[in-house]
Amino acid sequence: MRIGFFSTKPYDKTSFIHANAALMHELIFFEAALSEQTCALACDVDAVCVFVNDQIDAHLLRCLAGRGVKVVALRCAGFNNVDLAAARALGIAVVRVPAYSPYAVAEHALALILTLNRHTHRAYNRVREGNFALNGLLGFDLHGKTVGIIGTGRIGAVFAHIMQGFGCTLIAYDQIPNSTCLQSGVRYVDQDTVLRESDVISLHCPLTPQTQHMIDASKIALMKPGVMLINTGRGALIDTSAVIDGLKVGHVGALGLDVYEQEEALFFEDHSNEIIQDDVLERLLTFPNVLITAHQGFFTREALAAIAETTLLNLSQIERHKACPNAL
Ligand code: NAI
Repeated sequence: MRIGFFSTKPYDKTSFIHANAALMHELIFFEAALSEQTCALACDVDAVCVFVNDQIDAHLLRCLAGRGVKVVALRCAGFNNVDLAAARALGIAVVRVPAYSPYAVAEHALALILTLNRHTHRAYNRVREGNFALNGLLGFDLHGKTVGIIGTGRIGAVFAHIMQGFGCTLIAYDQIPNSTCLQSGVRYVDQDTVLRESDVISLHCPLTPQTQHMIDASKIALMKPGVMLINTGRGALIDTSAVIDGLKVGHVGALGLDVYEQEEALFFEDHSNEIIQDDVLERLLTFPNVLITAHQGFFTREALAAIAETTLLNLSQIERHKACPNAL
């Protein structure tokens, strides 16, 4: 199959070329994101391969269909950026990588927690500048704390297991309780109880119309004063302005984000020589108790290899007119 890759980074190229060695697809890499303007690059390709911030709306899908594109292959798990109904109507198949390494994202959520709690990001800079003072670096024992999880699918379940290893009490909300979590002693409660009782809250559910801004001002008001809120799911799960208000009054004690509502305009690119115009993000970056990473939860060697392998196998299945379990 001839596949046009958009939003390609050097690491994507490496992992896909490696995974393609035995499959012999024809891979064409473009650095540009897929948009109405760049759609013309997808000439003579059977499939386009895109990432989390390529917005595949109905108009773009019509452009792709007009160019003969038959498949949109998402090299990610989330699919909130694709108009699935429009794709279906146009006869364009959409495939994704539902699971590649839940460990990668769950471990990154832990990295955010440990860094925020023990302030290692600040300690690193202090010590390098000859400042060995401990003021402002006080943390708490994770042992014995209540950790609340919203969404106990693949990633949430791994995260629960990790936090149990720290001696935390785990509570969770999910419409479909996970049997592994139940067996390991995670207590399922309603969403508001998770928010009320947790010292640390971690979001691991998908972004849907129902979950958009699930954490807003009214939900933040329910949380324990000083709560640590972690989001490695999708940016729009949180109303960012509301969380800023929570941080300003000290109700939110720490915020760790790997995803951000308006990340599409910034993430995965180097903007260090520009004046960043996003005042909400810039305000967030002024808080000493906020840690933001640029959607790197998935970014491990193991995950990249699995993403490339599954994406190409998805496309091989479709090429052979076989059922693809990862079709949406
Ligand atoms: P999954 O599909 O295995 O689990 C999602 C869980 O959320 C399911 O158990 C589902 O029942 C639950 N859920 C759905 N709606 C809910 C709601 N309103 N309230 C509570 N729970 C709800 O997905 P997986 O693999 O665990 O990934 C979770 C999310 O993590 C993805 O949707 C994606 O947005 C994000 N993600 C982030 C990455 C990163 O690099 N930061 C990488 C991969 C995924």
